[in-house]
Amino acid sequence: MALLLKNAHVVDPSVELDGIVDVLIDGERIARVGENLDAADAEVVDLSGKYLVPGLVDMHVHLREPGFEHKGTIESETRAAARGGFTGVCSMPNTDPVTDNGVTIEYVKSVAAREGHCRVYPSGAMTRGLKGEIISEMGDMVAHGAVAFTDDGRGVQGAGMLRRAMDYGKMFDRVFMSHCQDEDLVGDGQVNEGVASTRLGLLGWPAAGEEIQIARDIAIAELTGAKLHIQHISTARGVELVREAKAKGLPVTCEATPHHMFLTEDAIDGTYDTSLKVNPPLRTAADAQAVVAGVVDGTVDAIVTDHAPHADWEKSREFELAPFGMIGLETSLALVITNLVKTGTIDYGRMVELMAIAPRRILGLDQVSVAEGSVADLTVFDPEASWTVDADALESAARNTGFKGAELTGRATDVFVGGVATLRDGVVC
Ligand code: DOR
Ligand code: ZN
Repeated sequence: MALLLKNAHVVDPSVELDGIVDVLIDGERIARVGENLDAADAEVVDLSGKYLVPGLVDMHVHLREPGFEHKGTIESETRAAARGGFTGVCSMPNTDPVTDNGVTIEYVKSVAAREGHCRVYPSGAMTRGLKGEIISEMGDMVAHGAVAFTDDGRGVQGAGMLRRAMDYGKMFDRVFMSHCQDEDLVGDGQVNEGVASTRLGLLGWPAAGEEIQIARDIAIAELTGAKLHIQHISTARGVELVREAKAKGLPVTCEATPHHMFLTEDAIDGTYDTSLKVNPPLRTAADAQAVVAGVVDGTVDAIVTDHAPHADWEKSREFELAPFGMIGLETSLALVITNLVKTGTIDYGRMVELMAIAPRRILGLDQVSVAEGSVADLTVFDPEASWTVDADALESAARNTGFKGAELTGRATDVFVGGVATLRDGVVC
């Protein structure tokens, strides 16, 4: 049955829409967009007071399957994605086995098709086993649907290795996504090096450990002509390096997470909350401000979560022994609305660029828009819903949110993927 979404405030800068219109979905696609639409036998949904935007895509998510199902599964984490308002996610390849060949890409896709609550766009490893030694089966993975290459969880340590991977892999016209971390410099660093590492008595993870690889990877992208995307950028100098690369006209993009924008190293106190242990680490307030400035001026292209579920028993250990990472799919939209839109830092149009348009562009996916004929991947949210983050009430299998107790405004209420509801009135379908 056709679905008539009435009275939502539609924001889609790609078609210059910012106002109240009705949207008629027929099958997989949008049939009509306009004022006071009528459709004889459509189900009518009144979305007064809500916003409707092109479906949000999170281009940096750890779904953990295959191999780490004790942390989360494709079913559980795409469920979290739907609850958070996303119509699609790009999965990271640090699974077990590593997603470094066509068969594993196919496995992720087939489980997602059977059990998923959103679209899953798999990325494939740049090097076999994420070891940084041998180029992965790039062509095979692309043939099976890989949308990007990354060794996320690690940086490619050898500059020559990165060059060879880019020189070879650029023929597949996919983006190379870099987790920037010089392992020799970072060593066993646990938190940002400086005030936090000194105060907490933990080994430091220096900003330079990230910035050195950002600078290096930009230089190698220039050398090879490959498309480079810097993952979870966290330092002021890192943002500046990307700004300079863009000014030179290089094909470089970057992403930032809510936790690197809205939390700082100061949040880690004497309780040593391991939910706040992330890689790269929470940085200084000046770094966080610089990342936000990058979001405002366009240096930062996309907002992502680096959603990294871990089991309670893994996080309930000494800080040094706990794994890096926090979940984020269910808090991302609300954090952006609360901290960036409600404060007047960006508007909803820019939010849509950061969370829907740019991720699709960088990953080479077909764009969706709120226009006749587009695939109906849509996100609806209530901009005034206020709620408190309760780790036990999240859909994710994991509870390692760094935003426990945060009071947020804005929450997804309905999500449609190819015209099919995956979230209705806040309930995952
Ligand atoms: O904090 C992180 N956790 N950063 C990463 O790069 C990897 C991720 C994970 O896989 O847990
Ligand atoms: Zn990473």
